[in-house]
Amino acid sequence: MYYQEPHRPQIHFTPKENWINDPNGLVYFEGEYHLFYQRNPYGNDHDHMHWGHAVSSDLFHWEELDIALAPDELGTIFSGSAVVDKDNTSGLFEEGSGGLVAIFTHDGQSQQQSIAYSSDKGRTWKKYIGNPVIENTTIKDFRDPKVFWHKETEKWMMVLACGDHIQIYGSPNLIDWEYLSSFGKEYPSHEGVWECPDLVCLPIEGTDDSIWVLIVSMNEGGPNGGSAVQYFTGSFDGIFFRPNEQAEDPVKWADEGKDFYAAITWDNTAKTYWIGWMNNWEYAGEVPVSPWRSSMSLVRTLTVQQVKGDYLLKQTPVIPENQQKQLQEEPFTVQPSAYLEYEIKLPVTINVETKEIPNSGQWGFRLISDQEEIFTFHFDQEKDVYFFSRTAGILDFSKDFSKEITGSLKGQKVKNIFSILDQSSVEIFVNDGLSVSTNLFYPRGSIEKMQLYTEKEEVPFNGLSLEEYQSIW
Ligand code: FRU
Repeated sequence: MYYQEPHRPQIHFTPKENWINDPNGLVYFEGEYHLFYQRNPYGNDHDHMHWGHAVSSDLFHWEELDIALAPDELGTIFSGSAVVDKDNTSGLFEEGSGGLVAIFTHDGQSQQQSIAYSSDKGRTWKKYIGNPVIENTTIKDFRDPKVFWHKETEKWMMVLACGDHIQIYGSPNLIDWEYLSSFGKEYPSHEGVWECPDLVCLPIEGTDDSIWVLIVSMNEGGPNGGSAVQYFTGSFDGIFFRPNEQAEDPVKWADEGKDFYAAITWDNTAKTYWIGWMNNWEYAGEVPVSPWRSSMSLVRTLTVQQVKGDYLLKQTPVIPENQQKQLQEEPFTVQPSAYLEYEIKLPVTINVETKEIPNSGQWGFRLISDQEEIFTFHFDQEKDVYFFSRTAGILDFSKDFSKEITGSLKGQKVKNIFSILDQSSVEIFVNDGLSVSTNLFYPRGSIEKMQLYTEKEEVPFNGLSLEEYQSIW
């Protein structure tokens, strides 16, 4: 094992020590995927925000590097993005060369947008002398710029979170920004503040078409309480984002677990990848881990699938081929009278293919520790839902942590379930990632068994595989 501390994720990114939150500045450049993130280098709480930095060549193994951006007289460094300015549109690089530009929020007297640039693959950064590039003295919540190149209009586009709506700006050079449009005030999901937007064009599976997806994190008001990521599908013409009208409910949740937040996508990649902060503002400052606090989710590939006239996000985790394949089972059936039990050692992935799932009754998975703590995720086809229950383990740090977590099956029969269990998290991908639930849990003991059970009717499976990831490093 690479890390020895209890609850320290083995296959998810954590900093060696101290606090992190949102992923920032996700960009691919010269063979490296960059992961910047909200970082307090001095302690295990949300304070003194800097940008921390890690790099990877495969989106799975991460190397932590030095701090990238530190506070200055305009404020601390809140969330934002990074792009490759290959044609030097900004004029910030030497003639004939380009580099990385980070666009972020300065959180000071007010929240304003600023930029910094790097000519050495993100190792050192210079802040632009004319910061901020978007001034603000009046709006309270005005942050988290996500920038991308829009080839049709040959402009940089920025989506920015403004409390209860998103603003879109355009720029020829990353320095001079023009306000273009606003989106979102008319939508019902305003229980919390809107944060960390993203606007991406994603392929629709099985077609040659694509669709624009506007991603908006919101804290509070998530489907299970606290923070969560919502999205809207529609069109973007270089000025306005317009949601498509077929959708019954224009607000959709990307991940219905409690611990996937502030997710944004990588810039400058052929496929679209994103990553989220694996935590929830409801209890982020209290989760019982140290000397680090919080981890990132696994990276996921994003596409869209059309389901009954609506467009749904589909997420596929990026996880390398594993030599430690532990178990592969042929078709089998679980009976109400007898559960099946498997020994497991975290981190592990559990992959099952189902066959003719019964309409009634609950069935699912129990995870059991050597201290007899039980965590379950189970399915109820009739009610079109699945659940994760974390009423065991360490709970006393938050009154909200032990509430049962519900996700929607979106009218789909369960065909397959892929779950990734690390020392203190589970990511569940149902039906090739059409329904996703990411959740933390804190067993006192070590998880040693997994049981497959059904309460009422027998459940036939086409197969099951368990793969362990202890020595992946
Ligand atoms: C989201 C967020 C952002 C902000 C950052 C501060 O989790 O609140 O809106 O920029 O965290 O750390």
